[in-house]
Amino acid sequence: MTDLIVYPAEKPLEGGVPVPTDKSIGHRALLFSALANGTSRIQKFAGGGDNISTANALRAMGVVIDESESKGSRELTVKGVGIFGLKKPEAPLDCGNSGTTMRLFCGLLCAQEFSTTMIGDESLSGRPMMRVIKPLALRGAKISGKAHPKKSGDVTAPLQIEGLGEEIYLSELEYESEISSAQVKSAILLSGLYAHGTTYFREPTVSRDHTERMMQALGVPLRTMGPLVELDPSGWRGVLDPLDIEVPGDLSAAAFLITAAQIVSGSRVTMRGVGVNPTRTGILEIVRDMGGSVVIDHQSERSGEPVADLHALASSLHSARIGGEVVARAIDEIPIACALAARASGTTEITDAAELRVKETDRIAAMASVLRSFGITCEEKSDGMSIQGTHEKLKAAEVESRGDHRIAMTSAVLALVGDGPTKIKDADCISTSFPRFVATLRALGARVDVV
Ligand code: S3P
Repeated sequence: MTDLIVYPAEKPLEGGVPVPTDKSIGHRALLFSALANGTSRIQKFAGGGDNISTANALRAMGVVIDESESKGSRELTVKGVGIFGLKKPEAPLDCGNSGTTMRLFCGLLCAQEFSTTMIGDESLSGRPMMRVIKPLALRGAKISGKAHPKKSGDVTAPLQIEGLGEEIYLSELEYESEISSAQVKSAILLSGLYAHGTTYFREPTVSRDHTERMMQALGVPLRTMGPLVELDPSGWRGVLDPLDIEVPGDLSAAAFLITAAQIVSGSRVTMRGVGVNPTRTGILEIVRDMGGSVVIDHQSERSGEPVADLHALASSLHSARIGGEVVARAIDEIPIACALAARASGTTEITDAAELRVKETDRIAAMASVLRSFGITCEEKSDGMSIQGTHEKLKAAEVESRGDHRIAMTSAVLALVGDGPTKIKDADCISTSFPRFVATLRALGARVDVV
């Protein structure tokens, strides 16, 4: 197991660095390429652990995915098998740490004739799955799992997905989700491709919409109206054309560098070609609300997704209230927003973020523990936290990642403003989403040892 020693920054973080490409878009590009008729090309594929889990699950069902290097980045060629061309895998599909893989595959696999089993690592085997199983069951899917040890009535992996018998189809579905979740929405929409009847899905506020954008680009008859999505496959020929996509940079990964630049004085960090889909840009609004500075330029569109160059500049931060609909658009960035709050004058209140309790780890409890290790005063609430910020140096700490990539990277960012070296234990999980994180920090001038 790898630990990191992160030293306090002795000089500003400076430079232009690449960020890994978007993990969410990577999953979807793989899935839709696999289901297309013909060969797709995915340029700038990040290749983090979660995306690899999706690729390997598809390979196990007969999809040929070849990898090559092009201009220093990874390119995939995916030979699609068509929406009815997947083959029964010989062994359980291992989703690793990836909740997105497991939940999206629930939607895809419940519509197949063959049965499958999905497994995951320890963290994934503790995550709630009823949120996808329940709506899919309403349209005829048969998915069962292990009783959840902590949430009564819920289930977790391993999941068994029973194949539909011959000439049995999923039915129409009208579903109102209590939570805003792109994983739930995407699972339902994927199943909707196979259903006999229309799919209506509504969520409290719009979660990331990469699935909708990709489906529309591929000619799927899908319409959106705010938080309502309608997919009516009647009249659709059931064929997806191959994709040629260049994946944008991942704003969720960039958020760690944006924050590092805000809190290390004098810093200026540039990241080019980062995804700025409005359903993902909550963190940019949070930074702005706290008095931070990210200059956005060269906005354009890449494969149906908005992208831009981001220049993050050191700032003097103040507290803010983080709650309401922005939370859904910054759901993966709340841990790093805690780091901003730790360096802001005043007390920052985070609310409406109960979903953080069921991520790779309980991120509210994990962040409260990390912040306290660094000497920050904070109070844990059921759906968030209040954090008393400081401009003083933080107490150097020894922190546990708890196997959660975002907790590990947030800790590394906080360590840059410590009063001595900080140890981050069990940092291998960072490769889930940002394999070159340490190299990137070093390129910006930070000192990080891997031990
Ligand atoms: C994701 C959706 C979000 C997010 C996760 C990726 C996706 O999860 O936290 O990292 O790619 O659909 P929820 O749908 O549970 O909010």
